[in-house]
Amino acid sequence: MTMLSKIHPSVTVCEHPLLQHNLAILRDSNTTHERFRSAVRRVSLFILQEATRNLPLTKAYVETPITKAETRILSPDIPILITPILRAGLMMSDVAMDLVPSASVYHVGLYRDEETLRPITYYNKLPSNIDYSHARIFLLDPMLATGGSGIAAIDIVSKLGVRQENIAFVSIIAAPEGIKNLTDNYPAVHIYTGAVDERLNDKAYIVPGLGDAGDRMFGTV
Ligand code: PRP
Ligand code: URA
Repeated sequence: MTMLSKIHPSVTVCEHPLLQHNLAILRDSNTTHERFRSAVRRVSLFILQEATRNLPLTKAYVETPITKAETRILSPDIPILITPILRAGLMMSDVAMDLVPSASVYHVGLYRDEETLRPITYYNKLPSNIDYSHARIFLLDPMLATGGSGIAAIDIVSKLGVRQENIAFVSIIAAPEGIKNLTDNYPAVHIYTGAVDERLNDKAYIVPGLGDAGDRMFGTV
């Protein structure tokens, strides 16, 4: 794990060797979509382990077969929300749900307009009638390119009352431009990623990147 403090103190790059190995599979243009999906799951596991490291715990007692034991469990008073950004965040949410089965899952649908590169919101299932003031939210999207989609998702959850420092933006590959854009707008949001790549190309694709994550994941290339 590296804190990329030169880029921004809230960026964590996960460098586990198995993550990096699977990242190579994702980058390889010869990888089939079946293999791509399974590598996304493995990569997500390592990044999500980092992203969930600071979830608050509370003391609880259980009866073991031998005696009463003091344990630590996730605080029942703190809502944990998993929000995959459709489409490409979906596969990451399978892993997040396995890791935190008690979490609520609310989907947000965004796509990037190919001409303007601006995000278009087409689906938002986050309820407006719950108390978000202590909620921890994990926004899942494998690609942080210009940062437009990430910022749009953070705008949505911030307006509902989620505090910036309780938001984790969980990606697989990030571009320096997207990190700058997101941290300029939301400096306290935590960004987790498996790699910070070189740059964006003239179509705002990440270089070297892995291409279009959604298309490769769902075989719609
Ligand atoms: C991709 C990706 C991000 C977005 C990143 O989604 O999954 O959501 O682009 O780009 P940005 O940082 O410049 O906003 P896309 O628009 O291709 O939609 P999809 O997931 O439905 O394929
Ligand atoms: N969206 C993707 O899926 N890939 C990129 O490189 C940029 C945006």
